[in-house]
Amino acid sequence: MHSLGADGYNTASVDGVMNQAVPLLRISGLQMEFVSSTSLLSRLVRRRNETLVAIDGVDLDVFAGEALGIVGESGSGKSTLARCIAGLYEPTAGTLVYAGKVLPRRRPASLRRRIQIVFQDPYASLNPRMTVEQTVKEILGVHNVVPRQRREARFRELMDLVRLGPELASAYPRQLSGGQRQRVSIARALALEPELLIADEPVSALDVSVQASILNLLADLRQQLGLTLVFIAHDLSVVHHLCGRVAVMYLGRVVEVAEVGALFDDPRHPYTQGLLRSIPSLVHGEQSSEVGVAGDPPSPFAIPSGCRFRSRCPIAQPLCMEEDPALEVVDGHAAACHFAWTVR
Ligand SMILES: Nc1ncnc2c1ncn2[C@@H]1O[C@H](COP(=O)(O)OP(=O)(O)OP(=O)(O)O)[C@@H](O)[C@H]1O
Ligand code: SF4
Ligand SMILES: [Mg+2]
Repeated sequence: MHSLGADGYNTASVDGVMNQAVPLLRISGLQMEFVSSTSLLSRLVRRRNETLVAIDGVDLDVFAGEALGIVGESGSGKSTLARCIAGLYEPTAGTLVYAGKVLPRRRPASLRRRIQIVFQDPYASLNPRMTVEQTVKEILGVHNVVPRQRREARFRELMDLVRLGPELASAYPRQLSGGQRQRVSIARALALEPELLIADEPVSALDVSVQASILNLLADLRQQLGLTLVFIAHDLSVVHHLCGRVAVMYLGRVVEVAEVGALFDDPRHPYTQGLLRSIPSLVHGEQSSEVGVAGDPPSPFAIPSGCRFRSRCPIAQPLCMEEDPALEVVDGHAAACHFAWTVR
């Protein structure tokens, strides 16, 4: 159900039900370039500034109430995309349409609240000189999310939501475990009552023993609060249980998007097929001995002509050097490969 918020954006309170008709967020032609700062030496030898293309024409929809996984190798642009969505980076080109309206370059506070991000390293994202209570209450105060007299109660609610005991209120980040720190980061993001929560590899820096508890917490919070979740991971096996749909990124571009079952059972892009070959069988728990994706990705300073995956693709053809394949959608399954629907 959508109704119009005070700022003119539809409010996306969907009771955890995915609304496939209208995307909560539509990302179109998104581009993010970084220009490397020229060093003194570079200037002396008159080297030009170099442009790194981190995001190169991403088209992607996020539906209200869904959990969308984004996977890809290191450097494929997952975090840059997340930061563009959260408004931390101003994209070089492209548009983000949120709840029916184009997001402005400079977002008002009321809009910034709606999309929150949790980072990979909770230690780096928390102020070491602030206790848990100060960290969460600061957000409640700065954004005036709740009146002063309600802040104590809201703080306790948030601690309950992320399953942190009240005895940790006076603890500093260094006194907490990695999992507890990530719970504080999640509480801080939830304090702003977001509709869309982006979790950028939230368990990669944690011990394997606590990873599952954070993943379960995110799954429960999504249900309980009706959140839309964008969950970023290196690894397809992590998104398998948590996400309903998955987008695969390669060198700054989304190359495949599908329902999680379709992606695992019938991957259409050779890159996704390679990623899946490299993980243990999820069905039988077998360890794979096959090589996943051979070689290294090309430099983002020099993205290849034609298909960007061609230097590593086991089925590349002459056409792949000439033409950049577009994301083609068949029965709700999208893949950017000239032969996605003809070669198996
Ligand atoms: N602030 C920045 N300045 C310059 N280059 C950047 C910046 N942030 C990212 N990049 C570059 O953009 C590309 C994409 O990086 P990004 O961090 O988005 O990838 P990622 O998929 O999140 O990787 P990882 O899995 O390692 O987190 C990389 O080549 C990276 O070096
Ligand atoms: S377009 Fe060509 S190079 Fe690219 S993934 Fe498909 S077959 Fe491989
Ligand atoms: Mg990243």
